[in-house]
Amino acid sequence: MTRLHSPGAAPDATPVVALPAGTPAPPLVSADGIRVMRGGRVVLDDVSLTVRAGEIVALVGASGAGKSALLLALSGLLPLAGGRIEAGGAGTLSSAARWKQHRRRMASIFQDLALIEQASALHNVLVGLADRRSPLGLMRGWRKAEIMAAAALMGRFGISHLAHSRVDRLSGGERRRVAVARAMIRDASLLLADEPFNSLDPELARGLVRCFADEAMAGTGMIVALHQAELLPLLAHRVIALERGRVVFDCPAADIGRRDLAPLFASSPRPGNHLTNVNREAPDEQLRTPSLPVQFRDRA
Ligand SMILES: Nc1ncnc2c1ncn2[C@@H]1O[C@H](COP(=O)(O)OP(=O)(O)OP(=O)(O)O)[C@@H](O)[C@H]1O
Ligand SMILES: [Mg+2]
Repeated sequence: MTRLHSPGAAPDATPVVALPAGTPAPPLVSADGIRVMRGGRVVLDDVSLTVRAGEIVALVGASGAGKSALLLALSGLLPLAGGRIEAGGAGTLSSAARWKQHRRRMASIFQDLALIEQASALHNVLVGLADRRSPLGLMRGWRKAEIMAAAALMGRFGISHLAHSRVDRLSGGERRRVAVARAMIRDASLLLADEPFNSLDPELARGLVRCFADEAMAGTGMIVALHQAELLPLLAHRVIALERGRVVFDCPAADIGRRDLAPLFASSPRPGNHLTNVNREAPDEQLRTPSLPVQFRDRA
């Protein structure tokens, strides 16, 4: 098992994992023309994508482009105003029961981490398993096997020594690794990771790339939203770019050299390229996005 904090985890500019040739792997999740509204505005419009088993899809776009909205919609945490989402094996996710089935097979790393601040790092990791237990079972406490699995993951991510520390007393990078471990303990077939590299130093980031590659080789499909352009060639099989809530390209990672990536990593969106059907009565927060350095932004 790769240790996240091991030095020299991935060689520079060498993809860590290649997709096997031949028949495409089965789709894990597909979005078909989805539309999402937030605060009275269209924040995703006519977005379609498919993620297959073992595939790492990088999701890029300037701040406010809709990356988090897309990940939240794919996990059922934002309602659709149009289009549909299908999950492998569960068909169109049109009922609460189907969403529940889909969620049990997936894991999320949220941009704001969504940790239980006063609980220990170990407890936060174990919470990743909460939906696999009955409420009564949870009242009896965690099983030894679950604690061992959490401890092993914390070792993998170099945070074993923090197991009993409250997460509100941890650094940004330590907290992010707790959130990553909480997602990984689910052993999910689909991982939705929203800016998992923020707050990590370059060596930790490369280690996390290697960890994601290991998971992909074991069959996990993932969508990883990120702002670190230099990680794209190491991490991704495919790159999907969003601009103002629309997909502007969806291409193999090997082809991104031919694309104009600058606007996607810029802190201000390109002018004159607004979404249609925007409710102009609501303030357009994207136009008020402050200028930030492009790479290694850290809002944790
Ligand atoms: N809670 C909310 N209420 C209303 N609008 C929101 C809310 N959260 C986000 N938005 C708006 O939705 C749009 C998409 O935001 P989203 O968070 O998906 O962008 P993002 O691409 O993830 O940006 P970042 O790189 O800064 O995380 C933005 O215009 C944003 O202002
Ligand atoms: Mg976001």
